[in-house]
Amino acid sequence: MKLNFPENFLWGTSTSAGQIETAFDHDFKGLKARDGSVFNRTIDHELHRNEDARIIASIGNAYRCSLDWSRLQRKPKGKFEEDVVKEYRHFLEKLKNKGVTIMLVLHHFANPNWFVEAGSWESENSISLFEDYVKKVVFNFGDLVDYWNTINEPGVYSLMGYVLGFYPPHKKNIFTARKVLNNQSKAHKVVYKIIKEKFSDAQVGISKNTMFINSDSILGYIPAKIFDKLFMDYVSDKFKEVDYVGLSYYGKITFKPLPIIETEKPGELDKLGKVHDKMWEYYPKGLKEILIRFSKKYDKPIIITENGCFTDDDEVRVRSIKDHLRYAYEAIKEGVDLRGYFHWSTFDNFEWQLGLTYRAGLVSVDSKTKKRKLKKSAYFYRKICKNNGFNY
Ligand code: BGC
Repeated sequence: MKLNFPENFLWGTSTSAGQIETAFDHDFKGLKARDGSVFNRTIDHELHRNEDARIIASIGNAYRCSLDWSRLQRKPKGKFEEDVVKEYRHFLEKLKNKGVTIMLVLHHFANPNWFVEAGSWESENSISLFEDYVKKVVFNFGDLVDYWNTINEPGVYSLMGYVLGFYPPHKKNIFTARKVLNNQSKAHKVVYKIIKEKFSDAQVGISKNTMFINSDSILGYIPAKIFDKLFMDYVSDKFKEVDYVGLSYYGKITFKPLPIIETEKPGELDKLGKVHDKMWEYYPKGLKEILIRFSKKYDKPIIITENGCFTDDDEVRVRSIKDHLRYAYEAIKEGVDLRGYFHWSTFDNFEWQLGLTYRAGLVSVDSKTKKRKLKKSAYFYRKICKNNGFNY
């Protein structure tokens, strides 16, 4: 079956500055990840910009990335470092000159340490500090950006940082988590306007993380329903001022009655005979259901901002790309206005609290030499991007 995607479809890959640049002065710096690696040097992207731009442009027609806020701005409302602006502009211009569409993420989990000292997202201060940062980003880089993604996965950020305590500031307090979410929601509204005032054609949205949530037992039914309501609806309803809905999707979470996630309960999914990667249960069909659900909910164009597979077996990654795109295609056939797909991730990188050994890249990076090498999946995905589709 030949799957032809819509004209002008965005075929991209995705990264975040924190995960590919050497940590400058942000709150993940120094974190000891579960695999023993320390969050400091990641994959030296800052030293390989030209090569990385070439690789990115050779794969797809779009790229989703962020900037290291702590490198650009060294104190609250401070002016941007000129050499850092130059460095980022040079990189983005290189991509634009090669015909790559840019989606810029303004906040992707990591915060400057001065922002943390000023109270971070728990404090209302965060809104004006973020507003000031965004104004300067828009001023310095706005001409190079096509799509804006204000906040990456606010639901994941507050869950991981303020409920489960896996990300800095490692708190476990649902009331604080709600405050953080509300401040990010307010900040989103403020910066949405700022971007639109300067660039009325710019497409502005967030990226909402989605999972297919279900239960295998009667005991899991209620917890799964509650989690689904909170994580999927409650969070995204706080970010409705968008031009497109950005969704990331990685798989299924089964409640039994507690959620079964490979990183938290290694071996459990195998015992239940479920296919999975190093993190989640494999369930490509869920992507179609989620696309239809969010398309009905918001009646807006949708972009898949992240989708990928954490595995060292690249054949599995190829399969995963095929299967997820097949269901994305089916969703389009059922009326979903899907405009693009960004694979997570361009490069193997530093997976926040888990470390360097959780690899989802199309491109591998040697741990010592930092030499980049396209995997089979990169060639496979590149072909799909060039042909705007593939045979399933
Ligand atoms: C994040 C990425 C992360 C990926 C896998 C998303 O939640 O945006 O930064 O690497 O999922 O956990």
